Amino acid sequence: MQAACVKINGMRMHRKDNLDARLAACGDIMTGADLTEKNMKKAAGMKAYLDFAALFNNNNPVHLEIGCGKGGFVCGMARLHPDINFVAVEKVSNVIITACEAAKAQELKNVHFINCPAEVLPRYIKDGIVSRIYLNFSDPLPKLGYAAQRLTNPRFLALYSALLKAGSELWQKTDNEDFFNYSLESFKECGWLIKEVCRDLAAFPFEGNVVTEHEQKFMDEGKKIFRAVVCPPLE
Ligand SMILES: C[S@@+](CC[C@H](N)C(=O)[O-])C[C@H]1O[C@@H](n2cnc3c(N)ncnc32)[C@H](O)[C@@H]1O
Repeated sequence: MQAACVKINGMRMHRKDNLDARLAACGDIMTGADLTEKNMKKAAGMKAYLDFAALFNNNNPVHLEIGCGKGGFVCGMARLHPDINFVAVEKVSNVIITACEAAKAQELKNVHFINCPAEVLPRYIKDGIVSRIYLNFSDPLPKLGYAAQRLTNPRFLALYSALLKAGSELWQKTDNEDFFNYSLESFKECGWLIKEVCRDLAAFPFEGNVVTEHEQKFMDEGKKIFRAVVCPPLE
C-alpha cells in the first residue's frame, strides 16, 4: 500500500488519491520521472532526448519553466501564446499532477510536462534548443548549506546556458529579496548580462504578466515581487 503522506522539502504533504493511475493517465502530455539512477550527474548523462517537433507536431520555439508547481503560469502562458511550445518541469509528482490535469482539462496542445529535478534536464533536452527559461518563485532555500540547491546557483546557470539558444533570455520572479540579490550576484559571477531589474512589479507592471499561484498569494499578503531578465554570456 502507498504511504498516505509524502515529504517535500521537509514538509509533510498528503499523497494525492490514485496518484499513480492519474500520472499514467497524463502520460501523453508528461514525461515521467525515471529516478532509478540516484546520482543526478549520471542520470543527466543517460540521454533520452525528447523530440519536441514530434511531440508538438510543429517547430515552434520552446519555452521552459522550471519548478512549475500546480501549473497556473504555464497553462496561462500556453493559452496566451499558442505559437510557443511550453515545457514545464516539476520534481514533485504529487504537485505536477495538478498541473497536468489542468492542462488536459483546458485541452492545451502546446504544453508538455517533465516530472524530474532540474539537474536531470540535460537527459531530456538537447543543448541550444530552448528560446526562454522561466524561474517563478523558486524555493529560496535561505540556509547556507542549501545554496547549491538554489535554482540560480552557478551550477544551474551552467546547465541553463547550455540549454538556451544563443542570445535567449531567462526571466525570474520572486518575492524573496535575499534570494533575488543572491541570484543577481550569481548571474554576474557567471558573466550573464542583466537586462532588466524590477524591485516592485506592482509599481512597474509589464504587459502580458501571467500571475503564478505563489505570486497571487504574495500579492494578497502585500509583499513586493522582484523580477529580472537576464541572458547567458555569448561564447
Ligand atoms: C515555491 S514553488 C513555486 C511554484 C510556482 N512556480 C509558483 O510560482 O506558484 C517552487 C516549486 O519548484 C519545485 N522545485 C524546487 N526545486 C526543483 C528542482 N531542482 N527541479 C524541479 N522542480 C523544483 C518545487 O517542488 C515547487 O513545486
